[in-house]
Amino acid sequence: MKGLSILGATGSVGANVLRIVEAFPDRLSVVGLSAGGNVERLAEQVVRHKPRIVSVATREASEALARLVDLRGVRVGIGQDGSVEVATHAEARMVVAAAVGAVGLVPTYRALEAGKDVALANKETLVMAGELMVARARARGARLLPIDSEHCALHQCLDGRAPEEVRRLVLTASGGPFRTRPRDTFGKVTREEALNHPTWNMGPKITIDSATLMNKGLEVIEARWLFGVPAERVAVLVHPQSVVHSMVEFVDGTVLAQLGVTDMRLPIQYALSYPQRWEAAIPGLDFTKAFKLDFDVPDHNRFPCLPLAYRALESGGSMPAVLNAANEEAVAAFLAGRIPFTAIPESIEEVMDAHPASSVRDLQEVLEADAWARRRCGETLVRRSAAV
Ligand SMILES: NC(=O)c1ccc[n+]([C@@H]2O[C@H](COP(=O)([O-])OP(=O)(O)OC[C@H]3O[C@@H](n4cnc5c(N)ncnc54)[C@H](OP(=O)(O)O)[C@@H]3O)[C@@H](O)[C@H]2O)c1
Repeated sequence: MKGLSILGATGSVGANVLRIVEAFPDRLSVVGLSAGGNVERLAEQVVRHKPRIVSVATREASEALARLVDLRGVRVGIGQDGSVEVATHAEARMVVAAAVGAVGLVPTYRALEAGKDVALANKETLVMAGELMVARARARGARLLPIDSEHCALHQCLDGRAPEEVRRLVLTASGGPFRTRPRDTFGKVTREEALNHPTWNMGPKITIDSATLMNKGLEVIEARWLFGVPAERVAVLVHPQSVVHSMVEFVDGTVLAQLGVTDMRLPIQYALSYPQRWEAAIPGLDFTKAFKLDFDVPDHNRFPCLPLAYRALESGGSMPAVLNAANEEAVAAFLAGRIPFTAIPESIEEVMDAHPASSVRDLQEVLEADAWARRRCGETLVRRSAAV
């Protein structure tokens, strides 16, 4: 029986993780659940999964949770400290990092420090502090397993092979809702259009990241740290069908691809069951019907977030954390209707231009870069929202 602590239990990935737990009650159990403010959903999860420990973002949320469900015998944590307690609970063998954004960084890092295996959906944490996290995992003998479907695909294709045997990692991208939309109409993109992803049903932040292609940029950085392959050997191809989840081209010219249906339960189950494979109740691809696989190169002019991510990786040090923080702030402002879609990459670029990258030796320095970028981006967004 593998005990799990789930950070971001109430989100889209979190809900799918719990569906896998329910499908394998004799192999997986819930030790801890951490969430932000969705106490209704968390209360249902507490009743169903009987965790030892839960955590929510604020005291008000913990009081609201206590009104909804009997918490006798359940430890209740609050804020970052609460999430860290969930992530380091003695009975948790694996931590599923499925919170959204920088809020997951410290708890995920502490989980690795405590020697827990981590199944990682929360890619922002690797973007911010990839080198530190990978080093910590290695030092503590903890596994860092990707949940992102692309990185799950790469993990399967690589199957432990060394970076020197890899010519290129090829991340596929659906292209998002604006794959064929003319650039001169991007200024008119509405929140609803941007939230309407063609192939995946996900939380709002990653859905906007998919529309700007920043999601793919974050994944390039994630792949660099997970697999030790430098950025110039991590390529992106647009693949609208989302059937090939990613590919590895080896130095001998062989290309291995992983194919599957677009259902997040597949990569989640892979990470939870690794190194075993468990029989899934999810239907596979239907090869009795004809389907096409198209591939195209991404258009960096229409989707400037992707080259910004490569630039952040090349600058190194604090720059990826700055990219991530500016992106989180800009996406939140777009979702709140404060800035147009085109202001997302423009704001990020402005913040990056103002930041001299410095080396980051520990988590504190990463968090300082994050805080600086949020302040600087805040100024940019105020100016841009006044112009709307
Ligand atoms: N969705 C997907 O299919 C998918 C695929 C690949 C990778 N990912 C990655 O997985 C992560 C989660 O994505 P998602 O789509 O599941 O997002 P989501 O549906 O928006 O869920 C986010 C989760 O984070 C929690 N959270 C937010 N603020 C918090 C705080 N201050 N303290 C503790 N928890 C907090 C939320 O709690 P409340 O709702 O209770 O506030 C929720 O449980 C992201 O990094 C995303 O890039 C997602």
